[in-house]
Amino acid sequence: MLKTSIPGYFKARRQSLTSLAEAEGATFILPAAPEVVRNNDVYYPFRQDSNFYYLTGFDEPEAWLVLAPSSVGGKSHRTILFVRKRDREREMWEGERYGTEGAVSIFGADEAYLESEFESKLPEILKGSSKVFYLTQANEQNDRLIGELLAKHRSLMGRSGKGLLPIHDPSDLLGEMRMFKSADEAELMRRACSISARAHKQVMQFTRPGMNEREVASELEYYFRKLGCDGLGYGSIVAGGKNATCLHYKTNNEDLRDGDLLLIDAGGERDYYGADITRTFPVGKKFTAAQAKIYDLVLKAQLECIAMAKPGATLPQIHSKACEILTDGMIEYGFLKGNRSELIASAQFRKYYPHGTGHWLGMDVHDAGLYQIRGEPRKLEPGMLFTIEPGFYVQPGDTDAPNEFRDIGIRIEDDILITQDGCEILTHEVPKTRADIEALRH
Ligand code: GLY
Ligand code: MN
Ligand code: MN
Repeated sequence: MLKTSIPGYFKARRQSLTSLAEAEGATFILPAAPEVVRNNDVYYPFRQDSNFYYLTGFDEPEAWLVLAPSSVGGKSHRTILFVRKRDREREMWEGERYGTEGAVSIFGADEAYLESEFESKLPEILKGSSKVFYLTQANEQNDRLIGELLAKHRSLMGRSGKGLLPIHDPSDLLGEMRMFKSADEAELMRRACSISARAHKQVMQFTRPGMNEREVASELEYYFRKLGCDGLGYGSIVAGGKNATCLHYKTNNEDLRDGDLLLIDAGGERDYYGADITRTFPVGKKFTAAQAKIYDLVLKAQLECIAMAKPGATLPQIHSKACEILTDGMIEYGFLKGNRSELIASAQFRKYYPHGTGHWLGMDVHDAGLYQIRGEPRKLEPGMLFTIEPGFYVQPGDTDAPNEFRDIGIRIEDDILITQDGCEILTHEVPKTRADIEALRH
């Protein structure tokens, strides 16, 4: 169904972007996400590019957003959308389109043209610009087109002696905006996280030995949608037993065995904001003694990391805490020999904990935003949102690992919003202590 209106924050974001000092005299050119053919005339499901959506709320393919200085040397910018033509025949097959009228009346464009007019209009629009913000390397066809149109713009300027307009990557500016979630965005994240958490809880109750990973994945994804998500934020990982040691496991098609653990890393997405949750629980009723030891170690690391999540802390400090606690466990349980600081300095702990402890989260599961400012890890501030996800993995075939722990893979992941004086755990509705998990596994 087409939207009839959109929230005012899309326009406010364009205004924030174009009022930055770097935007003076600049034209921003953002393409919509490409449609990708799966085979013949069948396409992969379309999802708008996150930056494009963040600035427009417009979710059709074959579109360009151009933010151009209103006048030469002027400080304000106008919003120009190039969109697909309304077409009765195509709309009968593919659904209704907004057309140029909708681009103006619903999405607030100052000017709207057909996508087919982009080539002829852009060189003119660029007159009066001193630079261009455009992300190169994402799409070869677009890069070629923009290169040609910049050359055409230069030729339109006659014998000026000037070079091509310089191209800057808009990712840093947009990343900086997207990194700080507004109250509206925090609310959208709360909703996606709450829905996803309740779906995780549902499968924690549903799963039984003998089920296939795909059956559990289906139940989970059914609940994401049933409870209100549009779809998935990323491909679900539903990994029983040793499959959990594969960090990006995706085949999700093996039978689940009593005595094994099941690691599920999955999140629903709603209105372009998605959760990223991992829980690990027994396929049968209880954790074995060996599983319990590693589980409690990972949980301790996760809880201590969450306790550090407040303004002023940094992600590397949080990661160091996870590494310390996990490395202590590796020594205590006989995985590694030596002392903590040596095992960390020599990165030997990475054999069992090879990934980072968190990443920004929002419209993209690995969201936009700089991790360092002038070479220093940035300090956490209210509105930042990220995951905390320590894990422990004993790779199949690792004969050095103590026997009782072979093939174990465990990760626990929650989504954390930094507040004025601490943090809010957006995914708190999924149980994670062993007692709470086992209570659901009766
Ligand atoms: N689900 C991807 C991640 O946890 O980073
Ligand atoms: Mn994650
Ligand atoms: Mn994850």
